[in-house]
Amino acid sequence: MKKFLEMLTEEMQQAFTAAGYDGSLGKVMLSNRPDLCEYQCNGAMAGAKLYKKAPIMIANDVAEQLKDSKVFSEVVAVAPGFLNLKVSEAFLLTYLQGMEANEKFGLEKPEHPKKIIIDYGGPNVAKPLHVGHLRSAVIGESVKRISRYVGHEVIGDVHLGDWGLQMGLVITGLQERQPELVYFDENYAGEYPEEAPFTISELEEIYPAASAKSKEDPEYKAKAMEATFKLQSGVRGYRALWKHIINVSVNDLKKNYSKLNVEFDLWKGESDVHDIIPEMVAYMKDNGYAHLSEGALVVDVKEDTDTKEIPPCMILKSDGASLYNTTDLATIMERMKLYHPDELIYVVDKRQELYFEQVFRCARKTKLVEPETELKFLGFGTMNGKDGKPFKTRQGGVMRLENLIKDTQDEMYKKIKEGRDMEDAEAKKVADVVAISALKYGDLSNQASKDYVFDIDRFTSFEGDTGPYILYTIVRIKSILNKYKEQGGDLTAVKLQQPGNASEKELAMELAQFNTMIATAGEELAPHKVCAYIYDLANAFNHFYHETKILGEENEERKQGLVALLVLTRDILETCIDMLGFEAPEKM
Ligand code: ARG
Repeated sequence: MKKFLEMLTEEMQQAFTAAGYDGSLGKVMLSNRPDLCEYQCNGAMAGAKLYKKAPIMIANDVAEQLKDSKVFSEVVAVAPGFLNLKVSEAFLLTYLQGMEANEKFGLEKPEHPKKIIIDYGGPNVAKPLHVGHLRSAVIGESVKRISRYVGHEVIGDVHLGDWGLQMGLVITGLQERQPELVYFDENYAGEYPEEAPFTISELEEIYPAASAKSKEDPEYKAKAMEATFKLQSGVRGYRALWKHIINVSVNDLKKNYSKLNVEFDLWKGESDVHDIIPEMVAYMKDNGYAHLSEGALVVDVKEDTDTKEIPPCMILKSDGASLYNTTDLATIMERMKLYHPDELIYVVDKRQELYFEQVFRCARKTKLVEPETELKFLGFGTMNGKDGKPFKTRQGGVMRLENLIKDTQDEMYKKIKEGRDMEDAEAKKVADVVAISALKYGDLSNQASKDYVFDIDRFTSFEGDTGPYILYTIVRIKSILNKYKEQGGDLTAVKLQQPGNASEKELAMELAQFNTMIATAGEELAPHKVCAYIYDLANAFNHFYHETKILGEENEERKQGLVALLVLTRDILETCIDMLGFEAPEKM
């Protein structure tokens, strides 16, 4: 199906042409004076110069052509030359019927569906998830779902940080606590125990302690570096221990991500490309892309048009060790080989932007990717506290993601108990679901690149631009629909009708915008556009709800039309929240 606004524009373009003007002037947009009209066209203003004519004359000519339009019920030329437009109710009805009848509400498949890999989450094994990882997970998951909905093939990869110094630190910390473990005996030739010699809580203690110690004690740091080196060069006991660390940690990560409805298709990590690094390095050297600079192997990536200094991309350190860059480049090489994606999207803290610029340039220059492969960096800003500084616990430490979720659930529970009469157990269940919407919507409703303030009180409010408000609206619709069914109504038999009042028409026009909105959100990787849309849609619905008798409507045909409009509103809202990665409870 064509997009609603496109159809309005086509009608207007034909009128411009018929009146003897250039059709491309007939662009229709949403009105910025909703008190005067629903849509507007400013083409006559642009045409004035071209035709050396007063804009109002052009506008009048065009309006004349649209006298009998089936698309516009009202076309008014106003000084100095605007065209104020209202959409015909019959046309609107036909459009909504088309949305109802078509898959995905008539959203057309992309002309060139792409295969996309989204690199998001990016947790580091053995380190607890903290709020910094929240944004990557929440935004990445939504971008993945939107891109899939739009019609692309999308693979989500968590890209674990599982190969760096933190692994050596954990191994060193563990050795200090349990030096008797067989893993540390380099002459040991038997099997290693299947059971991990630590729990997740121990693991979470070990890393911070070892990390702190390594900062004060250079000898300890050297030991951790040596352990990292031994692990990477394949010492059996270290590898066996590392596998345990990964397993215990990944199990815990999966638990946390599933609380957030975040699911990855691939659980790969930096370690997965370890074995192909030598091959990549040889390739870069042999083809003359990489050269030695002060002992390190680098690829120059600066370009003549640069306005700021872009340092060379370092592939190997002077001691031959690989770096963050090295694993990222090798991962690109592997992804191209295994999946042939058309596009790679990285959802990472925007402070890594320059880093990714280097990596992307290097991947292009060394032809790890095809010239047409798109490499996109979706950088996100910081989640701040009310003081405007990066969000911290009350004690001033880094907030663990688990605790942030828990705090939000507790606050939601309090609000639900305050406002309504609900059993504790049910209130708890509902609160857990609604809290996820509070957290995710609070994040996603901001443009990703912007910083935002985590305001638990606002995020969990049932009023305003919040997740709970959206869910509340959905639950309200569901409860009306349930009542309709209880009264013997059949939801599958109801048919849309022409809108009967202004608020109903507004709601219908909002629904008609779905296609345009979702296509844009997909192209721009912009979940905040989905949020803005459902906020407008929920407002339009609630306004309509207060103005309109629904189940009390006496005319049966009209009542069914209203119910059908409710069904469509519910379906679109639910489709949208699914793309944002949260869901609505049955009651709240
Ligand atoms: N583990 C990294 C961090 O915590 C993020 C990984 C982002 N993805 C990537 N391909 N580099 O900063």
